Amino acid sequence: MKLYNDTNAFGLVSRANHWISAFLFIGLIALGIYMHELPKSPEKFELYDLHKSLGIGLFVLMMLRLVWLKISPNPEQISHNRFEHILAHSVKGILYLAMIMMPISGWIMSNSGGHEVAFFNLFTLPNLVGENETVHEIAEGIHGTMGPLMILVIALHIAGALKHHLIYKDNTLKRMLGKK
Ligand code: HEM
Repeated sequence: MKLYNDTNAFGLVSRANHWISAFLFIGLIALGIYMHELPKSPEKFELYDLHKSLGIGLFVLMMLRLVWLKISPNPEQISHNRFEHILAHSVKGILYLAMIMMPISGWIMSNSGGHEVAFFNLFTLPNLVGENETVHEIAEGIHGTMGPLMILVIALHIAGALKHHLIYKDNTLKRMLGKK
């Protein structure tokens, strides 16, 4: 089983990172929307802690992904026309950006709102900012707007993967699943 990517295939490291991040990302958005709607209760705050811990997990995976990209670059994207090439690249770029900006804005939102960010009661992250209402509102605006927006971006990304698989019948989805 190949760990590294090559010009035509994703290795195990990139595939594992992609699918774990994908489940985490979709789960975090769903959990974020659900917990936001709950009335104040101990359950709500437990879910906030879970959301923060999983968010840290996604952020760490994203940092590892950036390191791995340097060590083992992704294969060339399979493209059938220029428009779809640019669209697919842009969508992936937005997802990369979101996997950096959403955890950081959530971290700043918590700290500026007077809360700490801990990873499953194992350790607490340092505070990025002190308590500050204006900063809190800005971070909340970014975090709260990006979540629902990402649903659209992910839908576009999945639609692209399915189009490659079902209409172009190429290797795009298969190689991300590790199939020949
Ligand atoms: C069922 C859901 C998903 C499917 C079917 C899917 C499918 C794929 C496929 C087939 C590729 C390879 C594209 C290529 O060869 O250029 C890919 C790449 C990628 N996907 Fe997804 N994806 C899903 C969910 C997600 C989610 C939720 C995210 C965001 C966190 C995401 C982020 C990325 C990124 C950043 C890449 C670029 C390659 C990399 O750096 O890993 N995907 N996806």
